[in-house]
Amino acid sequence: MTVNVLFSARPTLWPVYEPLLTKGLTEAGVDFRLGPDFEPDQVDYVVYAPNGGLLDFTPYTRLKAVLSLWAGVEKIADNDSLTVPLARMVDHGLTQGMTEWVVGHVLRYHLGMDQHITVQDGNWTPDAPPLATERQVCVLGLGALGKATAHALAALNFNVTGWSRSAKDIAGITCMHGEEGLGAALSQAEIVVLLLPDTPATVNTLNSETLALLPKGACIINPGRGPLIDDDALLTALNSGQVGHATLDVFRVEPLPPEHPYWAHPNVTVTPHIASETRPVTAAQVICENIRRGEVGEPFLHLVNRDLGY
Ligand SMILES: NC(=O)c1ccc[n+]([C@@H]2O[C@H](COP(=O)([O-])OP(=O)(O)OC[C@H]3O[C@@H](n4cnc5c(N)ncnc54)[C@H](OP(=O)(O)O)[C@@H]3O)[C@@H](O)[C@H]2O)c1
Repeated sequence: MTVNVLFSARPTLWPVYEPLLTKGLTEAGVDFRLGPDFEPDQVDYVVYAPNGGLLDFTPYTRLKAVLSLWAGVEKIADNDSLTVPLARMVDHGLTQGMTEWVVGHVLRYHLGMDQHITVQDGNWTPDAPPLATERQVCVLGLGALGKATAHALAALNFNVTGWSRSAKDIAGITCMHGEEGLGAALSQAEIVVLLLPDTPATVNTLNSETLALLPKGACIINPGRGPLIDDDALLTALNSGQVGHATLDVFRVEPLPPEHPYWAHPNVTVTPHIASETRPVTAAQVICENIRRGEVGEPFLHLVNRDLGY
């Protein structure tokens, strides 16, 4: 039977994904119709992003699954009108992009690059940076993105500690978990990378108490989600020197309003949610594989645990 695949994402992405999904579904042997408009009760799968505007899944009576183009699913995970499986995006391209972005920003801090890029005042100060083996980096979140990032940093010889909800054993990474593990993970961390999802349990993971656990002058890199950090606590910690610098890619309100104190703070780098994005070529393969699985009765990849919110 023909399956109808609704593309519900930013309209400008439709011409990009249309040929990729057509090719992938054809190669997967799926008999399909694909488009940005269907009668709701005719739709079998939704290729979904929040900016497609779809909020109420109630009329989608024959829906088999919703396949997110985004890794972060906080905008849909608690949608009560959705009663079928929800898969999030795990995409090699997205992972590679995030790894490159985080490694770049870690190296900026580790090597003290700003000193020589921004200060060219005729003073010859020959202080070489330490080696990565002498630097402690902590990655909060050891999922698809955090684990790949931790591996890349460990490959550069950083001392990497990772923190997750459940216990893990990852070669080359000191793994900690749970509430009790967070303090231990942060207490050594000269550079902290946040790659947690936005869930009720992760809101304000960095707050005044946890920021106080960091070694003085630690640097923070947040490509996860804005609510992971208590903004007022971070600004206080930046102003006191407890936190040396923060690179923030994600915010509670996006675009970050021009009047927000982060923009003007000398020790904050704001980037406009560009750490990494879903790459259509590789992401379309993941979507098509999940539709193929759905049609032959195999388990979907990358299912979201709706109770946990990620
Ligand atoms: N800025 C950007 O451009 C951009 C791009 C893509 C994604 N993101 C963000 O990156 C996030 C992570 O993506 P991902 O694909 O790596 O997610 P993921 O595979 O679902 O991994 C999430 C990780 O966070 C851990 N975690 C969840 N709740 C926790 C808690 N309460 N305490 C401790 N650890 C917890 C999980 O622990 P377990 O392993 O024990 O489950 C897991 O290791 C996304 O949710 C999204 O918000 C940002």
